Order: sequence, then C-alpha cells, then structure tokens
Amino acid sequence: MLVMAHVSDTHFGNDVQDPAARAAAVMDHLLAMNPRPDVLVLTGDVADHGLAAEYAEARAWLDRWPAPAAMCPGNHDVRAAFVDGLGVDARSVVEMAGFRFVMLDSLIDAVAGERVDEGRLGEEQLSWVDARLGESDDPAFVCLHHPPTTIGLELMDPIRLMDGDALAAVIDHHPHVVATLVGHAHTMSATAFAGRPLLMGGGVVSTVTADAEDVDTLWYAAPPSFALHLIDDSAPPPRITTHWRALPT
Ligand SMILES: [Fe+2]
Ligand SMILES: [Fe+2]
Repeated sequence: MLVMAHVSDTHFGNDVQDPAARAAAVMDHLLAMNPRPDVLVLTGDVADHGLAAEYAEARAWLDRWPAPAAMCPGNHDVRAAFVDGLGVDARSVVEMAGFRFVMLDSLIDAVAGERVDEGRLGEEQLSWVDARLGESDDPAFVCLHHPPTTIGLELMDPIRLMDGDALAAVIDHHPHVVATLVGHAHTMSATAFAGRPLLMGGGVVSTVTADAEDVDTLWYAAPPSFALHLIDDSAPPPRITTHWRALPT
C-alpha cells in the first residue's frame, strides 16, 4: 500500500486569503499522521503571482515535509521562478517504492504580461510523456495542473487542458497508468479520463463551485481541502481509493 498526499493550489501570496496559514494547516495534518503518507504530490498554482518571495514561502513550507515530493507548475506559476525558487524542474519523473510520478508542465507562458489560464502540453511534451511512460511497466501516475477534460464547472471548463484528447491518446498506449492527478479546479472531485480515474486534489486556497450553487464561484469561505490517495498493489492491477479532507480553519 502506498499512501499519497495530493495537495493543490496553495496560491502562496494570494491576498484575499491567508494562504500560508491554510497550507500550514494541511501540512500539520499530514505530519501528524502516523504513519505519515509516503509521498507528497503538489499539482500546481503553488504561488499566486509567481513571485520569488512566494516561492521562498512555499519552499519553507515544503522543507517541513520529510519524505519524497513531486510537483508541477500551474497557470498562476511563472516557470523560471518556480524552478529557481523550489529547486525542481518544471517537468520531471519521480520514482519511489516501485511507482512512478510523471509530472507535466501544462503552463502556457504569459502573453504581453497577461496570465494565460488555459493549459497546453504541446507536441514535444506529449512525445516526452509517451517516452517516459514507455521506460518502465511500474505503475505510473500522470500528474499535471489542468484537468484534461471537462468537469462540469462553468468557470473551469473553458480553461482546461486544450490538448487533452492528445494526452488521452498517449495514455491509451500505457495500461500501467493507474490514474491522472490534477489541480486547477479547486474542488474535491473525481471523473474518468482515458478509461481510468481522473482525480482532483481539492483546493487549499479556495473551492470553485458550479453556477447552480448558491455560494461564490470562487468560494474563499470554504475550508482548505486535499486528497489522500491509497494505492493498493496487493494484487494487480493497482487500485486507487481516494479520501478527500477539508480542514477546519
Ligand atoms: Fe488555482
Ligand atoms: Fe490553476
């Protein structure tokens, strides 16, 4: 059994919220677990404005985590500052305990100083994912910021991953992919993608809601949330069970 803490959208530096306090509450909860999760997966929007000071805060927060961590940038991140400030690559493969985490970079660079909220992998990165997944039959997780399919939220669907169909075509060739893990949507939710689970990590800074709900679309009063994914590999194929948590603030 592998236990993964999936945390997303910390948005360090957000000025509506106290993002550092919320991230600290999540970290406190994870560190108090006994045993604690085996790995921390952070699916982007680590910083709100992509500033060096925000990544310094995020790095100090991550430095509390004593086990492996894997992360990728989101639309609120700035690639160079993310890489410099966190000391990681924008895309990477993290291997641990016979599992592989393929971390993708779906961030589209700002255009004329304007943040681009939708995501894209592009041909070169799609080939890269295919090659990385082809290296090993170990159970793998494809992790990125943008949901690669619609999820029924009016705010999020237009700013999803734009080349999700191409990513699904790649994953179709790799039956050892257990699930796709994403952020961006700030919601505790699950759907299917490429015939396997597509799991959203919740939202630390806020929750995004559907228009039909009688609350703010960007719901800052909602508690910080994250996911615990339990991967049972006692019999093939590995099976993922998700427990979302929303913490009192
Ligand atoms: Fe976000
Ligand atoms: Fe995002």
